[in-house]
Amino acid sequence: MKHPITYILAILLMFAFYSSAVVAASYEGRQKCSSCHKAQGKSWRSTAHAKAMDSLKAGEREEAKVKAGLDPKKDYTKDKDCVGCHVDGWGEKGGYTIDRPKRALAAVGCESCHGPGRKYRGEHRKGGQAFERNGATMERSRLVARGQDYEFEEACKACHLNYEGSGWEGNKEPYTPFTPEVDEKYTFNFDKMVKNAEAMHEHYKLDGAFVGEPEFKFHKEFQANAKVSKEDDDDDDDDDDEDED
Ligand code: HEC
Ligand code: HEC
Ligand code: HEC
Ligand code: HEC
Repeated sequence: MKHPITYILAILLMFAFYSSAVVAASYEGRQKCSSCHKAQGKSWRSTAHAKAMDSLKAGEREEAKVKAGLDPKKDYTKDKDCVGCHVDGWGEKGGYTIDRPKRALAAVGCESCHGPGRKYRGEHRKGGQAFERNGATMERSRLVARGQDYEFEEACKACHLNYEGSGWEGNKEPYTPFTPEVDEKYTFNFDKMVKNAEAMHEHYKLDGAFVGEPEFKFHKEFQANAKVSKEDDDDDDDDDDEDED
């Protein structure tokens, strides 16, 4: 049997590894992403996710609210039992808070699906520049180490399947009021929904600056049918530009 100190060291190392990963992941809002990915940003703005904060306002979606047993005359935009699933990074570093609400984090934005972007977006810039210079590619694993998510599924489920009896094991209060029991249309099917470009955003052709695993399971399919972006991409800098929408 190994000496207990080996285990203690191993645990300390693991702790250092995970806490540094946690420290690395910080939300900052969609304006950075959209300044480079203009086409996706524009397409996203017409999705239900982009309007998620508006739905919490009094007088919005009255019929749906009544059906779910909510008060359509009530303002839910500052209600901690609601806001968490209608914004980016609730309860996470740099994420949306009710006390200091940031407009670029209000609604279900880029980082809710792609992961908190503070660290990896810099790699996108470097990777894009290197690719333009001499066709050099960068491994996706490098982006994952900086917080980018290529699975998507768990992130969706944390909002869409967070209710009792959903079969998702991460369940905890506050639950979503919009369950299949209220209306069948609230049934969540990942494979079907993630292919709904009207709900995610339209897909645009990539040059291929990032390569290797992990590759999202429908990536090739999406790219094969992707549009060609006519928007010019800006390079971003580090000042805090205002929210675009
Ligand atoms: C400085 C500009 C810039 C910023 C800011 C930026 N990106 Fe990117 N991003 C790029 C470039 C360049 C690529 C590579 C495009 C290609 O291969 O054609 C890329 C690629 C991607 C890809 C595809 C990755 C892959 O594996 O092929 C996704 C998804 C993405 N970005 C999302 C985001 C999100 C979300 C944010 C904000 C958190 C963001 N980007 C911020 C420039 C940027
Ligand atoms: C932060 C929570 C959150 C995450 C993460 C999230 N969603 Fe959503 N989603 C919502 C909310 C809230 C709405 C409703 C917005 C509204 O209408 O106000 C919604 C709406 C939708 C709709 C539209 C339903 C309709 O009636 O048109 C689809 C489809 C969808 N989400 C799929 C997904 C998929 C797939 C993922 C993961 C790739 C995902 N969502 C990630 C919270 C989330
Ligand atoms: C656990 C996450 C979660 C919580 C908490 C949550 N929601 Fe949502 N909400 C969602 C998701 C996911 C959808 C999209 C459901 C769909 O279309 O399939 C949604 C959709 C909605 C819609 C649009 C429904 C429609 O059909 O147009 C309204 C309105 C709404 N939520 C209000 C609220 C209010 C008010 C609260 C607090 C009492 C709340 N939500 C709490 C996740 C949540
Ligand atoms: C509801 C989830 C969701 C949201 C919100 C979202 N995306 Fe995506 N995005 C996806 C999925 C799924 C893909 C496909 C990934 C792949 O093909 O590897 C994708 C792909 C991309 C790509 C790769 C090229 C393409 O068009 O397929 C870029 C760039 C991108 N997203 C940027 C953004 C930006 C910028 C925002 C915010 C304005 C955003 N995304 C918001 C789910 C989302």
